[in-house]
Amino acid sequence: MWTQGLVVARRDWNDKLFTLSIKAEIAPFIAGQFIKLSQVLADKRVARAYSIVSAPDAELLEVLAIKVEAGQLSPALHQLAIGDAITVSTKAAGFLTLDELPQSADYSNLWFLATGTGVGPFISMLRTQAPWLKYEKIILVYGVSYQTDIAYHDVIQQLLLQYPKQFVFIPMVTRDPEASVSMANALHCRIPQGLVSGELETRAQVDINPQSSQVMICGNPEMISEVQTLLLERGLSKNLRRAPGQITLEKYW
Ligand SMILES: Cc1cc2nc3c(=O)[nH]c(=O)nc-3n(C[C@H](O)[C@H](O)[C@H](O)COP(=O)(O)OP(=O)(O)OC[C@H]3O[C@@H](n4cnc5c(N)ncnc54)[C@H](O)[C@@H]3O)c2cc1C
Ligand SMILES: NC(=O)c1ccc[n+]([C@@H]2O[C@H](COP(=O)([O-])OP(=O)(O)OC[C@H]3O[C@@H](n4cnc5c(N)ncnc54)[C@H](OP(=O)(O)O)[C@@H]3O)[C@@H](O)[C@H]2O)c1
Repeated sequence: MWTQGLVVARRDWNDKLFTLSIKAEIAPFIAGQFIKLSQVLADKRVARAYSIVSAPDAELLEVLAIKVEAGQLSPALHQLAIGDAITVSTKAAGFLTLDELPQSADYSNLWFLATGTGVGPFISMLRTQAPWLKYEKIILVYGVSYQTDIAYHDVIQQLLLQYPKQFVFIPMVTRDPEASVSMANALHCRIPQGLVSGELETRAQVDINPQSSQVMICGNPEMISEVQTLLLERGLSKNLRRAPGQITLEKYW
């Protein structure tokens, strides 16, 4: 089922990365889920999935997207202006949600590992009360190539002020050696390398282990596969409804 949405605001984080705020009547959703956006392009309907970045009780639907140069839909979304229409699926979907995680109180730390636009569902979750009420530490690891690829830095800064003991933010900036000058805690390697070297856990001052960690991973599929392999080697297992574990993931392509 589809509904006609209206773009009411947009924010450009850089020349490719942008947030659309859309007014659309959709069914209630859970933080971490995605909707589909669709347009007719060259007489063909093209639909793609986009995670919702806004909180479930927000008035507008927010999505964070990157213009993939050779892509079909994302360049068209990048051209949308305030007042333009966009077709939106009425029902959100997806299992990258906090209620899918095992609820045992032993899991005291929650890791969010994201690359690029994969940070979106985690921002939505962080905008709700649920993770703050449940976990002692929440660590957001956000891998980007350049410092200017970091979206939602204002929301992240606000959360750092609000939860100074509970929240750790570790940007991983892979192609921008200057980044550390202005960003406390930044690392300059890809997420899998930060895990192998132990630098990520040193920065967070929290171990990743099967007893106390839940790890959610989102974004680049190769990053996800590499991280998953490393975590499986450490004794964590994939979180399935029939076999609860510690690794919950969503690949974007
Ligand atoms: C569950 C789910 C949630 C998603 N949520 C988001 C989201 O919140 N924001 C978002 O921008 N995309 C998201 N995507 C990807 C999105 O659905 C589209 O694939 C993307 O916008 C490209 O569409 P396109 O038609 O322009 O390119 P296509 O013609 O579909 O080309 C796809 C190629 O683009 C590249 N690509 C696709 N998505 C990304 C990305 N996010 N970052 C970097 N490179 C990418 C890959 O190389 C991929 O092979 C999600 C995908 C899934 C499956
Ligand atoms: N033409 C180009 O030169 C160029 C460059 C970048 C992106 N792009 C395109 O632009 C779009 C946006 O991409 P994006 O920058 O948002 O997302 P992305 O390409 O997935 O990069 C985001 C972060 O993920 C890292 N990463 C990439 N592959 C990884 C892997 N296998 N394991 C661990 N980490 C990995 C990147 O490191 P690295 O910086 O080390 O790759 C970067 O820090 C994509 O379509 C991409 O193909 C083009």
